[in-house]
Amino acid sequence: MQIHRFGDVTVLNDFAPVPGFGGAPPLFLPVNAFVLHAEQPVVIDTGLSTADKDFVSALAQVLDPADVRWIWMTHPDRDHTGGLWKLLQAAPRARLVTTFLGMGIMSTEWTVPLERVFLLNPGEALNVGDRRLHCFRPPLFDSPSTTGLLDDKTGALFSSDCFGAPMPSLELATTSDVRAVGDQVRDLQLLWASIDSPWVHHVDPARFRATVDPLRAWGASAVFSSHLPPVPKPDDQLYETVLLAPQAAPFVGPDQAALEALLATFEPAAAI
Ligand SMILES: [Fe+2]
Ligand SMILES: [Fe+2]
Repeated sequence: MQIHRFGDVTVLNDFAPVPGFGGAPPLFLPVNAFVLHAEQPVVIDTGLSTADKDFVSALAQVLDPADVRWIWMTHPDRDHTGGLWKLLQAAPRARLVTTFLGMGIMSTEWTVPLERVFLLNPGEALNVGDRRLHCFRPPLFDSPSTTGLLDDKTGALFSSDCFGAPMPSLELATTSDVRAVGDQVRDLQLLWASIDSPWVHHVDPARFRATVDPLRAWGASAVFSSHLPPVPKPDDQLYETVLLAPQAAPFVGPDQAALEALLATFEPAAAI
């Protein structure tokens, strides 16, 4: 876990390795959770769910988990819920911010403490003491419960899966500034868009633009995606790239032959 600090925002940066199928090079998907150091501290998502992860201990390097007041679950995919239940135990005053659908999805696996849930819909705002967090639905998403948020004090925008991109190296998946990735980030973002939001190929580009333009108009001071290195000073290219998603090449996953070819590389050399 890498920790990057940008003013009121701490990035808890992890990654998920994606093996190279069919001769393709391996990729590394950034997996970010965040702390917003508001008067009432906010944790935004809680990392990967594999057994080797200890999100609460990583968080404790940044602030006392007992001080967390809000846990904003942008959506309950497994790369976002890893530390959620331990954090709810460690942060007895924290409320779980989600949507009705998010609560419903979580309840298919866990007993959700309803008295600690705080339902927030796109278009509403959450008061966290010294600022308001405006809830919105990002242009690209992979869950009907997805929300993002805009901090009206600092202009930091948290976009959940939107704007994400798998990285060609571990170094780039853990960098603190997306500019280290260079121009290749656009193609990688469009690859991610087609993987994570395959429905985007069926939408009318003009109507899709109407979901991107309001974000652009907010003029965020920084953009924090769950799956992209931080964007400290977003330029227009960030939004222009997403606008290309409807026309991007649809993603087709590796097939069984590719999986078997990959598995064959795991066999001991002595078997040849
Ligand atoms: Fe997701
Ligand atoms: Fe995700």
